Amino acid sequence: MLKTLLLTGAAGGVGKAIRPLLREIAEKVVLSDMVDIADLASHETFVKCDLSIREEVDAAVAGVDGIIHLGGISVERPFELILKGNIEGVYNLYEAARHNGQPRIIFASSNHTIGFHRRDEKLDGNSSVRPDTLYGVSKCFGENLASFYFDKFGQETLSVRIGSLTAKPQNSRMLATWLSAQDFVSLCARGFEAPRLGNAVVYGASDNFESWWDNSHAAFLGWKPRDSSAKWRAEILAEAGKEDPTDPAHIYQGGGFTKLRHPADG
Ligand SMILES: NC(=O)c1ccc[n+]([C@@H]2O[C@H](COP(=O)([O-])OP(=O)(O)OC[C@H]3O[C@@H](n4cnc5c(N)ncnc54)[C@H](O)[C@@H]3O)[C@@H](O)[C@H]2O)c1
Repeated sequence: MLKTLLLTGAAGGVGKAIRPLLREIAEKVVLSDMVDIADLASHETFVKCDLSIREEVDAAVAGVDGIIHLGGISVERPFELILKGNIEGVYNLYEAARHNGQPRIIFASSNHTIGFHRRDEKLDGNSSVRPDTLYGVSKCFGENLASFYFDKFGQETLSVRIGSLTAKPQNSRMLATWLSAQDFVSLCARGFEAPRLGNAVVYGASDNFESWWDNSHAAFLGWKPRDSSAKWRAEILAEAGKEDPTDPAHIYQGGGFTKLRHPADG
């Protein structure tokens, strides 16, 4: 059990979904975001922090013994925004960690680091990155920064390539990519509890019937997802109808992100 966990990006969708479950991991939770959060539970405090401002990140990280880093840009956006939130932001976080006792970091990476792999490929720990957006490229930067900070400074990180963390799967792609909030939190717990974490990258999906990802390289974590998209499978497949097999959104793992225009092209 951690004494104090920092949750960045706590005002976002994933932050809201996992907050009620974080008592399993930590006695106290410091929530942080660039927007205010008012509805604090008794074990929660709030620190306002723009990840692109180093001093604010330092203040958020000071005194914590674990970090779940959700903060930043979570979809394709103009590069200037991605630069602030996901490049400068993750650098500031690792520098703050380096100067504040190196608390373990769970980094919310993304399936969009590997989005241009086809759906008929099974990916594992040796698969190359194939980002599908500038956003995906920024998550590759975060994973690489984690690797560098481990090899150089011993900072431990679990990067989770989150599939789709939503209340329930919303389309046929999410039958493979869906990750329940509870399974994500149990994965974070394993990341904090593992005797030796090092720098690990795992695919974040529940125990779904459809599966594109093999996490056997991370078996040492002992993570067993309990939830599954299967209970919505019949309903979703009935609604999905016949998908166009030539549509890149159905060919590639990154789905519709593979078809997005460059943000500078409007
Ligand atoms: N939701 C998913 O299915 C999914 C899938 C893959 C990866 N992820 C990753 O998980 C994390 C959380 O996702 P989400 O869906 O909750 O995203 P979200 O956009 O709902 O929340 C992100 C939060 O980060 C904050 N933020 C943005 N820029 C910031 C900055 N410069 N400084 C401080 N705070 C900043 C925002 O205010 C927001 O509250 C993101 O890093 C995202 O890339 C999510």
